[in-house]
Amino acid sequence: MIRGGSGIGKDTPPRHGRGVWPDKRTVDIAGCECLSLWWPGLARGPLHFGGRTAAAVSLSRLFVSALLVPTPTAPIRLLDLPAQHAAIQAELDAALQRVLREGAFIQGPDVQQFADELGQYLGGAHVIPCANGTDALQLALMALDLQPGDEVIVPAFTYVATAEAAAILGLKPVLADVDPHTFCLDAAAAEAALTPRTRAIMAVHLYGQCADLTALRAVADKHHLALIEDNAQAIGATWQLPDGTLLPAGTVGEMGTTSFFPSKNLGALGDGGALLTRSETRAAQLYELANHGQQRGKKYVHQRIGLNSRLDTLQAALLRVKLRHLAAWTSARQQAAAHYDAALAAVPGLRTPARQPGSTHVFHQYTITLDSEVRRDGLQQHLQAHGIPSVVYYPVPVHTQPAYQYLGYRAGQFPVAERLCRTVLSLPIHPGLTAEQIDYVAEAVRAFGAQAC
Ligand SMILES: Cc1ncc(COP(=O)(O)O)c(C=O)c1O
Repeated sequence: MIRGGSGIGKDTPPRHGRGVWPDKRTVDIAGCECLSLWWPGLARGPLHFGGRTAAAVSLSRLFVSALLVPTPTAPIRLLDLPAQHAAIQAELDAALQRVLREGAFIQGPDVQQFADELGQYLGGAHVIPCANGTDALQLALMALDLQPGDEVIVPAFTYVATAEAAAILGLKPVLADVDPHTFCLDAAAAEAALTPRTRAIMAVHLYGQCADLTALRAVADKHHLALIEDNAQAIGATWQLPDGTLLPAGTVGEMGTTSFFPSKNLGALGDGGALLTRSETRAAQLYELANHGQQRGKKYVHQRIGLNSRLDTLQAALLRVKLRHLAAWTSARQQAAAHYDAALAAVPGLRTPARQPGSTHVFHQYTITLDSEVRRDGLQQHLQAHGIPSVVYYPVPVHTQPAYQYLGYRAGQFPVAERLCRTVLSLPIHPGLTAEQIDYVAEAVRAFGAQAC
């Protein structure tokens, strides 16, 4: 007998539930159009959903698929911050209490301590904390002393903040297409988009993996451009230079930026961001720009026009706690990704994430691509019916966003970015995702891949 099912009504197909086969195995059941294709052969005896017999439901409208792996005991989340925080609750509480006791809520000692500790984690880079990752991008561009109308190369497939930072400063974001395998800015496309007004290239390390920094740095060096790395999604990833040197992502170009948005691999409990650089002079300049143009230690003397973009002491204290766990969390993400890779390798019409040679991937997202938009959307619905969340990062490329129409691009101009918007899907990934949960997600994806109906 198969039992279970929520959302059953006279005309409502079952959306999701748990069933028990005659041999006592538990299976997961989700709404489907083709129950009759498999049910008679698989189950004997009456089929029950939530106490009603399935016969009471219009069979022709049912869509049920059974996953032959155990239903996970805990719900699957895209990211599980409550669980992550519960595991380090005592450390977070102690940091919070200490900041409360000390009372230095702005520019308290934790801010510089966090900057120093993150700098050590990133191979000795200078870290300049600021209010968020978007400010960090803007501050990096401000440091270049550009003129209105100067051009900045930005990938067409990214979170909008990258282009926005240039646009808000009166600079012109010039878009370039991305690599179809890594989803990051394509160096040849970036070079093809250069004009005499180009001043900088902003590469985005999307989903946790570096853009081809060797190729991008070569283009930047050849044309005397600044290379800025938007490292909001790839903290802790590394890039290997041609001479074998390993550099942390965000420290290879002239400046790097990152975000501590709560969902990031190193996330605050609110907003936060930082700039990264290996140059001491640049670090001093960026500190001033983020602090009203005021030199460090020279209160009320303003060298330049800056922003008020500070990381709160409380966020810095909490980030210091979380930084201690980042390496373990990163390796848990990498293990989860390897598990997905193996489990999804043979699904027809689906590509697992490629790895950029020379880079480590820290799997901010585990993003697969399907062979069409219809299949991608179908898979997303299928997963949802099995209680599995998934997200499309990002459904609209920069050049077709309403706010960026003034740039004069047209649909079709960046075919890789546009195809990715139609075909990418990010599966749940976080350090607490269990092998059982990954097996369940993978089984649901495989079941979709095998579906003929
Ligand atoms: C690639 C990228 N750049 C920039 C940002 C902006 O960061 P924040 O939300 O901290 O401003 C994000 C955040 O989602 C991002 O993913």
